[in-house]
Amino acid sequence: MKEVAIIGIGIIKFGELWDKSLRDIAVESALNCLEDSGTDRIDSINIGCMSSGLFIGQEHLASIIADYLGRLNIPSTRVESACASGGLAVRSAFLEVAAGMSDYALAIGVEKMTDVSMGEATYALATAADQDYEAFHGITFPGLYAMLARTHMERWGTTREQLAEVAIKNHRNGSMNQYAQFPFTITLDAVLKSTMIADPLRLLDCSPVTDGAAALLLTTVENAKKLKKHPVVVISGIGSAVDSIALSQRKDLLELKAVKTAAGMALQMSGRTINDIDFAEVHDCFTIAEILVLESMGILEPGKGGPATLEGYTALDGKFPVNPSGGLKSKGHPVGATGVAQIFEIVNQLRGNSGKRQIPGARIGLAQNMGGSGGSCICHIIEAK
Ligand code: COA
Repeated sequence: MKEVAIIGIGIIKFGELWDKSLRDIAVESALNCLEDSGTDRIDSINIGCMSSGLFIGQEHLASIIADYLGRLNIPSTRVESACASGGLAVRSAFLEVAAGMSDYALAIGVEKMTDVSMGEATYALATAADQDYEAFHGITFPGLYAMLARTHMERWGTTREQLAEVAIKNHRNGSMNQYAQFPFTITLDAVLKSTMIADPLRLLDCSPVTDGAAALLLTTVENAKKLKKHPVVVISGIGSAVDSIALSQRKDLLELKAVKTAAGMALQMSGRTINDIDFAEVHDCFTIAEILVLESMGILEPGKGGPATLEGYTALDGKFPVNPSGGLKSKGHPVGATGVAQIFEIVNQLRGNSGKRQIPGARIGLAQNMGGSGGSCICHIIEAK
């Protein structure tokens, strides 16, 4: 297996992009990525998108995007794993290069979510829940995560203030991110007074509905060294795992098994332990999700996620910075793009290009991207060489 490097990164500003189509934003992020990389060679395209059929009435994205990128007649593949589709696209591009099938593999994550009403968007998202045992009965993702939050509060005494601090921290980081959908800070009072969505989760506990795209160009480490445009950044580990989608099928609601397994696999592949990781971009689709993910990956002990967040452990200047980009909460969550956008942030941090959000001395980052309420998860370990 060849060693794989990330030589190009591209993104667009996330938000409600009503003047742009899905193909526009996918192509724009890809062109930004190629410009960043210093090459225009692409041997394969790997696209992550959750639900373009329900959001914009367009499937068959592999062809559409390749066509509008001007790259017909090369392999183009679309992968789907709900909100983990972006991470899966990066894994697919990695496999292309590692296996020697492509010298240069492009990964694009994209989702156009705001062209439909909020009801239709909620329906589209809920198709990633278990239809028979969850969605059919009317439960949505805010509802599912609300149950997880309530369980965490009852078992560990996690408080509303601790949950709110996840959103406050991520908005603080996102306020410095030019690509964020909501680049502003928020207060505890604002979180606690925001509209109730699914008790105990309020509006400011939730990631928004977003249009967005991001892209990465992968090649061999050998090629990356020849390009010399950026410091060499490699993907040293990847883990991918699934769990029962329905919460009712899980033995312990508070252990996200797919997250635990995927993180463990990625660490093992990279030859690292969790203590070697400097920072992480994690899937904070709801405030409770960030806490559950950190506990499931072993970064924090079960039950310690709330207090540690409140004490600043995961802040930009804390012992283990989490979501320096602003996370899904502030940067936005265009579901199929999120996993790619997380790695965009990590590579920028490792290159030392994150400006006010720069984590001093960052060398190894972890990206954790999950589908639904943890039914699937992809983790990447990214290192500066
Ligand atoms: N965070 C911060 N502000 C938000 C927001 C969020 N998550 N969602 C919406 N807003 C803002 C809007 O910009 C708008 O501001 P304005 O009045 O200044 O224009 C205001 O809040 C109301 O927005 P609206 O679109 O009417 O909100 P809504 O009530 O229809 O939707 C949620 C809010 C939380 C229900 C929706 O964002 C949602 O479903 N989020 C979860 C998405 C999800 O499940 N993703 C998959 C995860 S697994």
